[in-house]
Amino acid sequence: MTTNYLPAAGRYQALPYRRCGQSGLKLPAISLGLWHNFGDVDALATGRQTLRLAFDHGITHFDLANNYGPPPGSAEINFGRVLREDFAGYRDELIISTKAGYNMWEGPYGEWGSRKYLLASLDQSLKRMGLEYVDIFYHHRPDPDTPLEESMGALAHAVRQGKALYVGLSNYEPDRAREAIRLLREMGTPCLIHQPKYSMLVRDPEAGLLDVLGTEGVGCIPFSPLAQGLLTNKYLHGIPDDSRAAKSTGFLQRDQVTPAVVAQLQSLNEIARQRSQSLAQMALAWLLKDNRVTSVLVGASRPEQLADSLRSLDNLAFSPDELARIEQILQSQPAA
Ligand SMILES: NC(=O)c1ccc[n+]([C@@H]2O[C@H](COP(=O)([O-])OP(=O)(O)OC[C@H]3O[C@@H](n4cnc5c(N)ncnc54)[C@H](OP(=O)(O)O)[C@@H]3O)[C@@H](O)[C@H]2O)c1
Repeated sequence: MTTNYLPAAGRYQALPYRRCGQSGLKLPAISLGLWHNFGDVDALATGRQTLRLAFDHGITHFDLANNYGPPPGSAEINFGRVLREDFAGYRDELIISTKAGYNMWEGPYGEWGSRKYLLASLDQSLKRMGLEYVDIFYHHRPDPDTPLEESMGALAHAVRQGKALYVGLSNYEPDRAREAIRLLREMGTPCLIHQPKYSMLVRDPEAGLLDVLGTEGVGCIPFSPLAQGLLTNKYLHGIPDDSRAAKSTGFLQRDQVTPAVVAQLQSLNEIARQRSQSLAQMALAWLLKDNRVTSVLVGASRPEQLADSLRSLDNLAFSPDELARIEQILQSQPAA
């Protein structure tokens, strides 16, 4: 069954596309992730509206993983359904990614980085989404026990099989990322992109990873750029019932929303207000000011949130004074 959804005619004038590292692929400055809000525990009608709004505004990139849900796998099944019902005929306009690395099924072959696990997981993901190939297949996390050659060899094999067009890394530390990038290049399947956790509140990639990616010509797509919703207007005055921190299935916990963090968010919000932006808009613009960042990978529990985040693109410039004041706030308070 297909719906009568027709994508907006002007969608490719809505946002900038940025080249992913030194590759030929361009990604929208904002991409949508389906970690939360697309599982069987969520309302698919809302998720469908968010996906439509995304595509109508030029967001061509949707990010999944084998284990997204809950239950694990359900986000891929639900996304596959919307693909069939709403986006049939638009496959060549979409960049769809999935990943394997975290626990997905029982036994020794259901997680980490063996060739056995990675290739079986990709087959399962394709089946759940009803796809012949994904655009990007990621190793979701480094595996301390599997030789890097084996994990990277499995990614390269997926490309040679035609089941993935590009490959990526996620959660790799700088040295391991550099080595994996070298191996993939030798295998003839260059690493397209790295997906690290990066936001105003979590700044690890600034300690080496961004330099490695810039030098190697690999793109960067920060995940949780809004720190799971902390860097929005959501928690400025308590924890609302409809927030991730209030839900039992969410990964943000109530105890992470401390008074010190809220004070920090309020100070940041004041700068955002002076820039005529929401806190979320400023937080995304702050990441996109670095041209090594290809795209920011946001989540949204409602289409209105994505619409709000998209307006970050109206003001990406920061004065030196604004940057200094932001830095002072980030340094002076405990991070989340
Ligand atoms: N590679 C990895 O290991 C990894 C790990 C985590 C995530 N990811 C990827 O990154 C994606 C994004 O992660 P994330 O969902 O944590 O990102 P996020 O953008 O930091 O947080 C999204 C949440 O923030 C709130 N929100 C978003 N926009 C808002 C707005 N404009 N105003 C108010 N609240 C807003 C919503 O929270 P409420 O639900 O409370 O409304 C939303 O669910 C995931 O979907 C996934 O694709 C990858």
